[in-house]
Amino acid sequence: MGEPQTPVGPSGQAPVLSSSLMSDEAAAHKPRVFSGVQPTGNLHLGTYLGALRQWVDHQDERDNVFCVVDLHALTVPEEIDPADLTAKSREVAALYFAAGLNPETNIVFIQSHVRAHAELTWLLNCLTPLGWLYRMTQFKSKSDGRESVSTGLLDYPVLQAADILLYDTELVPVGEDQVQHIELTRDIATRYNQLFGDVFKLPKATVPKMGARVMGFDDPEVKMSKSIARERDRHAVHLLDPESRIKKTVMGAVTDSGQEVRFDHASPGVRNLLGIYQSLTGRPMEAIETEFEGQGYGTLKKTVLEAIMETVRPIQERYRTYADDPAQLDAVLARGAERAEAIAEPVLARAKAAVGVGR
Ligand code: AMP
Ligand code: TRP
Repeated sequence: MGEPQTPVGPSGQAPVLSSSLMSDEAAAHKPRVFSGVQPTGNLHLGTYLGALRQWVDHQDERDNVFCVVDLHALTVPEEIDPADLTAKSREVAALYFAAGLNPETNIVFIQSHVRAHAELTWLLNCLTPLGWLYRMTQFKSKSDGRESVSTGLLDYPVLQAADILLYDTELVPVGEDQVQHIELTRDIATRYNQLFGDVFKLPKATVPKMGARVMGFDDPEVKMSKSIARERDRHAVHLLDPESRIKKTVMGAVTDSGQEVRFDHASPGVRNLLGIYQSLTGRPMEAIETEFEGQGYGTLKKTVLEAIMETVRPIQERYRTYADDPAQLDAVLARGAERAEAIAEPVLARAKAAVGVGR
């Protein structure tokens, strides 16, 4: 669908792509992309619209590395179920392909299969001030109310920085909630470069114009999230949910006490449904306004449901072909890890040499 994206970064520089003044060599340059999803819980519409779809839409213009970040899933030890974690990692990888990533052209692998991620994290840890980590909003919300918080939960964004920096990444396509982590990655890289020479490239986050923050169907004041979805049935539409369940969630979406779809003072629930619809169809808001003018919420929900099913059905069909052939999936992931390692190892060696460790 090629939805426009907003590059985000403290430098406020122009997008890396598309300049008519570029030299042939620069024009042929495909920016390196790195992104990932945690294999905790089930992937939902927010993960798809915020992250996966931008990966798929732009895959041919970019040089992509996509990871299933299983080491990040260890940061809340109370929630680790070893057998389930292994299965979930493979499920998430299969969903990457089911969503449309080409297994030939994209590097897709599981984070723990490439050792360099954990190793670079240590080097970065040693120059990341604790204060930077305590400030992260995701840490604050994830640690809030927990009796005991692991060091890993606090350190989570440093592992994420290692993920990104190991691939000389230029663009990191993510949902809005991750932008702070990408800014932190830049800060860590800048500090490393200042102290030890020009080691790391500085990455930028890209967030989609629509779908960067999909809200819960049952509570449009909160971001759709895997952890809330574990406790509340009608919170999220998961990519692998059966149609009957998706129908219940969408038709039961919280709106407001009004009767007709209005655009001037749309309530958060109606805005969320319209935003999801716009993001799924790629249609301009004016056309959507005309379509729903004077219609009731029932029509809005039914139409959004159809658009969701049109997106989800082919993903579920393709998913089955991967799920039915685990040996093939393992082979693709093994090859992905090899290709990832070939890029990551020289960068790790560079980072180690710069601080005077390693052979
Ligand atoms: P996570 O599931 O937390 O590993 O997130 C995976 C990716 O999906 C990240 O890029 C998130 O920013 C994105 N994401 C997760 N939830 C949402 C949401 N509700 N709306 C938009 N993007 C999201
Ligand atoms: N922290 C990200 C999330 O919760 C997942 C992630 C880990 C990631 N490493 C990454 C995303 C590197 C982009 C790049 O969604």
